[in-house]
Amino acid sequence: MSNFEQLSKIANQMVLKGKGVLAADESTGTCTKRLDSINVESTYESRNEYRDMLLTTPGLEEYISGVIMYDETLRQSTTCNDQISFPKYLESKGIIPGIKVDTGAKVLSGFEDEKITEGLDGLRDRLSEYYDIGARFAKWRAVITIGNNIPSDACILSNAHALARYASLCQEANIVPIVEPEVLMDGNHSIDACYEVSKRTLNTVFEQLMMHHVALEGIVLKPNMIISALNCENQADIEKVAKMTFDCLLENVPSEVPGIAFLSGGQSSDLATAHLNEINKTYDEKLPWNITYSYGRALQADALSAWNGSDRAEGQKALLLRAKNNSLATFGKAEGAISI
Ligand code: 13P
Repeated sequence: MSNFEQLSKIANQMVLKGKGVLAADESTGTCTKRLDSINVESTYESRNEYRDMLLTTPGLEEYISGVIMYDETLRQSTTCNDQISFPKYLESKGIIPGIKVDTGAKVLSGFEDEKITEGLDGLRDRLSEYYDIGARFAKWRAVITIGNNIPSDACILSNAHALARYASLCQEANIVPIVEPEVLMDGNHSIDACYEVSKRTLNTVFEQLMMHHVALEGIVLKPNMIISALNCENQADIEKVAKMTFDCLLENVPSEVPGIAFLSGGQSSDLATAHLNEINKTYDEKLPWNITYSYGRALQADALSAWNGSDRAEGQKALLLRAKNNSLATFGKAEGAISI
């Protein structure tokens, strides 16, 4: 199979109808914040325990096509007797192992309120090692902030350029890049502002991807939905979010892309499912790509509190339920499962 065929096969598997990607790739800092919230001390072992609880959930493979891991987790193993490395374990379940490869968003010099995602230096070598460990896809997250006179063109362009360099290096290494340009929902901006900035961002990202000869058939796009900011007085309803998200994607995402897997970005778990459900229910016939989920918080929040440091069975039950409801949402059939 050629490199191109392999990439496109994996990308298509990741966004298969009924399945989505579990984002469990919090950096140690972010994972520590999550564990702090349930009063569990963050150690190498407790992070391993938590990830083990999530990844060994019986039946997870029914709804989850791939898991994004952090470097530490990719090198850790299941905690039961026959300790098996997480990539091998996931592979045995038919779940594709993935790896976050950016090294975080830092202040963009000259633009103190904006961020640029770092991690390109040495990436070629890291990707080759990650492939050997078992990763078949990767993730890089760019963050775009809406505020007074921002985002600047410099911020959008430099982030889009970095995403394209990353994506090209991934494909060279036979790894499918998840391209994640996240327009943040922090602040009080309107849904129209989100639409405009997302449009500018997506346009620039695809311009850069094409300029860098990235095969669009071998990527997965992970965008934000088009949504009112968290503190916006006028919160758009589910139908409006679905319509504006559909319009923005249709206008700006080429049809060669096999699939779009949304981030949840701070939406409640129920709303993230309801929005995904509405998009698939209303626009399925008109969508040139599969539309699914790659949620972090919206898949893990219930599981984290149900687990509460030790209750594996309850944590796994909560994760499986969220995964199942989002799977239903990819068919537009999650209605009865959401309590908004
Ligand atoms: P959220 O769904 O919590 O936004 O996380 C997804 C993700 O992978 C962010 O990079």
